[in-house]
Amino acid sequence: MFKNTRQAKTNTIISEDEILADMEDLFVVGPTKLKEIVKHFVGELQKGLDHEGATVAMLPSFVTNRPTGKETGSYLALDLGGTNFRVCEVYLEGQSSVRLRQKKFTIPEECKNADGVVLFDFLASSVESFLKDSGVVPSEKELELGFTFSFPVNQTALNAGNLLVWTKGFNCGNTEGKDVVEMLNQAFVRKGLKVKVAALVNDTVGTLMSHAYNDPQTLVGVILGTGTNAAYVEKIENIKKWKGATPASGEMIINCEWGAYDEEKAMLPLTQYDNKLDAESQNPGQHIYEKMISGMYLGEICRNVFLDLIEKKCLFNGYLSEELKKQNSFETAFMSRIERDYSADLSDTKIVLQDLLGVPNTTARDRRIVRRIVELVGIRAARLSACCIAGLVTQMKKLDGCTVAIDGSVFEHYPHFGNRIQDALRELLGIFAENITLALGKDGSGIGAGVIAALAN
Ligand code: GLC
Repeated sequence: MFKNTRQAKTNTIISEDEILADMEDLFVVGPTKLKEIVKHFVGELQKGLDHEGATVAMLPSFVTNRPTGKETGSYLALDLGGTNFRVCEVYLEGQSSVRLRQKKFTIPEECKNADGVVLFDFLASSVESFLKDSGVVPSEKELELGFTFSFPVNQTALNAGNLLVWTKGFNCGNTEGKDVVEMLNQAFVRKGLKVKVAALVNDTVGTLMSHAYNDPQTLVGVILGTGTNAAYVEKIENIKKWKGATPASGEMIINCEWGAYDEEKAMLPLTQYDNKLDAESQNPGQHIYEKMISGMYLGEICRNVFLDLIEKKCLFNGYLSEELKKQNSFETAFMSRIERDYSADLSDTKIVLQDLLGVPNTTARDRRIVRRIVELVGIRAARLSACCIAGLVTQMKKLDGCTVAIDGSVFEHYPHFGNRIQDALRELLGIFAENITLALGKDGSGIGAGVIAALAN
């Protein structure tokens, strides 16, 4: 990691300033690089629209109408793919107003790596428990459900689609290449539940649709959470690979699957710490952009930096705790806490290091280094997110104004994330950045599945 001159200094204590200067060299992404990324990303979007099998897959969602806000009715929705799994009842009240009743479930770790049937049976039992709690008994007519399944799926209809590849730590057997709607419907049949999937929805598409229910300017839905991705409204004539009929609206929402951007590692400013994370991940070589941006990975990038500095005796006096040895032990939530620590002696950072990571007796210097590394990794993530948002707005030619709805734990809870995106958008788009509204689309993935089920009705 250290520059040659610094490497040459054997037996010299490397100063805090030198360490941080090297880290800044690695992690700061300047405006020129940001612009290069946007240009390259737009080229990758085009490839995905032109043909199948591109790195950025640009998957047609089969959603061709946006809501008016007048839709009404009550819909069941199931949301799988983030930190929690949720079953919801979405009440569309018309006049752009929505009520949501939901129950969160934690997916047992073993379900994430078991046979697909085990996972889908777990999902069906959760729906059963939700319905029991709410006293709803599906009668003669099957209950229709919007299924938000936030993984790359090649949809073949609004209610059918084959899983391309698992992401975000899921790795269930006998599922890739299969129709996940059919798998869920079969699990409902096994449980004797009269529930049927009406629409299969990516969380980004759900976020866009849910926000569009009360803001018709919404043209993009982004997730910045456990993983990252976006969906946007594209003109059908621009989707060269689309072989289906032209919808009356003339448009289709595209699920970009931008997490996979730059799997060729040709453009993104990857460091040795990112490469280590990738090599040790469940899906090496895949979802490279997601691994630099999303909640599942940011903490682990920091941990990789800490390990390197500890080994070089530049941090914690060379002490490596048992906890820090464990993969993913430095959670992204700890980064949020450390970035919120404005105390002069970084006292909360001290508590995090001591109580959660087993590193006692840290010095103020250690804590300043830790905080700055966290900040550099957090800022880089926000700035890289801005690149792809700018890329989509450019592709849509909507620099004159649109709303980007964003959901996910990183956007919602990581301090300054939204402001940092906005700053980078200003560097990229100048005055036009003011026309882009970034809006929190809370619970969008679940609500959007209800909205789409309503439109399908
Ligand atoms: C991963 C999934 C994608 C999802 C995103 C955010 O990138 O592949 O489908 O939208 O995470 O949850």
